[in-house]
Amino acid sequence: MDLKKYLTLRLSQVDKALNTLLPPKKTAPATMHDAMRYSIFAGGKRLRPILCLASAESCGGTPEAALPLACAVECIHTYSLIHDDLPCMDDDDLRRGRPTSHKVYGEGVAVLAGDALLTIAFEMVAKAKPSKRHPVSAMVAELAEAAGSRQLIAGQVMDIENEGKKFTPAKLQSIHERKTGALIAASLRLGAMSANATPKQLQSVTDFGYALGLAFQIVDDILDITQTSEQLGKSAGKDVKAGKATYPALMGLPGAQKAAALWTKKAHDSLKPFGSKADRLHELAAMMLERKS
Ligand code: IPE
Ligand code: IPE
Ligand code: MG
Ligand code: MG
Ligand code: MG
Repeated sequence: MDLKKYLTLRLSQVDKALNTLLPPKKTAPATMHDAMRYSIFAGGKRLRPILCLASAESCGGTPEAALPLACAVECIHTYSLIHDDLPCMDDDDLRRGRPTSHKVYGEGVAVLAGDALLTIAFEMVAKAKPSKRHPVSAMVAELAEAAGSRQLIAGQVMDIENEGKKFTPAKLQSIHERKTGALIAASLRLGAMSANATPKQLQSVTDFGYALGLAFQIVDDILDITQTSEQLGKSAGKDVKAGKATYPALMGLPGAQKAAALWTKKAHDSLKPFGSKADRLHELAAMMLERKS
């Protein structure tokens, strides 16, 4: 199957599962379930869940077994975007080509929709099946750590605390690894865990995930400068205005492009032990570097 067909197939599987796992729109309080679905079904690329499913396949497992975990990482990701867009954070009006949650529902409901997506993610993990090596409790811990105050949230704290400040390359790498790399690595690791991955396989997908996650956020920083809001479906050009710590701010656009390519190469190299079993992950990494939105 070519990559385009694969992406369409996996995206529709993830969307179908999310539709089943999320409470119906009309469930009370209807505003909340409407708001959760508004952000989830707004047309995200679904890269993290697709990486989760592809990782499971690379480790010899099935996408079906990884599906609740894939949905869980997408819920965490979407919650992080709703909160990232709030006026008290990046203050953005556009996300996934639509007005942001707080613009439509108000800040109170947007905060709560984020909270609800974060919470339901763990309900989804609880529905996953254990594999021989990996109990569901390990999967819960995996996602909690990646989303928690030492990883994703730590990265978001550092991101806002460093606005308008001078920063070192090491600090910037640490921000990006936490705010973006950790959830991408966890997506891959959870897929691998559902497929009964060996410690060696888990290590490979972890290394792949952190390198890919860093490359991904560098590309995100680049696109903020080189693309329009229409192309991105989110407000472009805001990082410079907000004085964000980004790779283009540190080393200019050509430097950032080189860094993204370098980290993508490191990502590819991490998959060596898999041989051709990781072909799909290689394809996804190449696509993520070349993406324009
Ligand atoms: C945007 O992530 C936020 C970052 C971590 C850079 P994506 O570019 O994956 O956003 P969606 O899910 O496609 O909207
Ligand atoms: C977002 O980083 C990272 C998380 C939401 C955890 P950005 O602030 O760069 O993402 P965009 O550009 O708003 O999508
Ligand atoms: Mg941000
Ligand atoms: Mg933002
Ligand atoms: Mg950005």
